[in-house]
Amino acid sequence: MRTLYDHASNEAPPEPDFTFPREYTGVYLDRRRETGFQLYNALGIARGDKAAYAQQALENFRFFGAPHVAIITTNEALGIYGAIDCGCYVSNFLLAAHASGIATVPQAALSTYAKIVRRELNLGEDRRMVCAISFGYADEGHPANSYRTSRAPLEEAVKWIAD
Ligand SMILES: Cc1cc2nc3c(=O)[nH]c(=O)nc-3n(C[C@H](O)[C@H](O)[C@H](O)COP(=O)(O)O)c2cc1C
Repeated sequence: MRTLYDHASNEAPPEPDFTFPREYTGVYLDRRRETGFQLYNALGIARGDKAAYAQQALENFRFFGAPHVAIITTNEALGIYGAIDCGCYVSNFLLAAHASGIATVPQAALSTYAKIVRRELNLGEDRRMVCAISFGYADEGHPANSYRTSRAPLEEAVKWIAD
């Protein structure tokens, strides 16, 4: 964890295995902003306080204080479909953990330094890091756990086609 945290603190250039989104537009941008501002409001971070944003982003690299982290990787030969499979795995991990009373934080941020993760954990050169999941018992009193993100209505997420 220390190595990753130091790297992120020094603003080392990102080297993810899978390219991060090029940009967020439309509803994706709207939803991202809503979630972000909910978090900043809960933490008392003022709009535009870039230093506080950066400090909060660094929390990723100490797993938000969670005692455990799962690193989700796929085989390089599987390409993007390996990453899709991992997405299914991540969903089920989150639901199974929640059902067992364990809280989770899925994190793409830790893939920023995939090479370092591979090196530090002695992962094979054929592994490609998709994301990580920090987990443990929730700190219910923490302000970051004081709100819930909203959910898009079904009509917004599904296009119904009738003949
Ligand atoms: C695949 C995936 C990657 C994510 N990566 C990060 C991340 O790197 N850092 C972060 O703070 N939140 C990340 N999030 C968002 C949060 O973990 C969390 O999902 C968000 O606060 C919304 O909560 P909800 O899933 O209950 O709507 C990610 C979510 C997903 C599904």
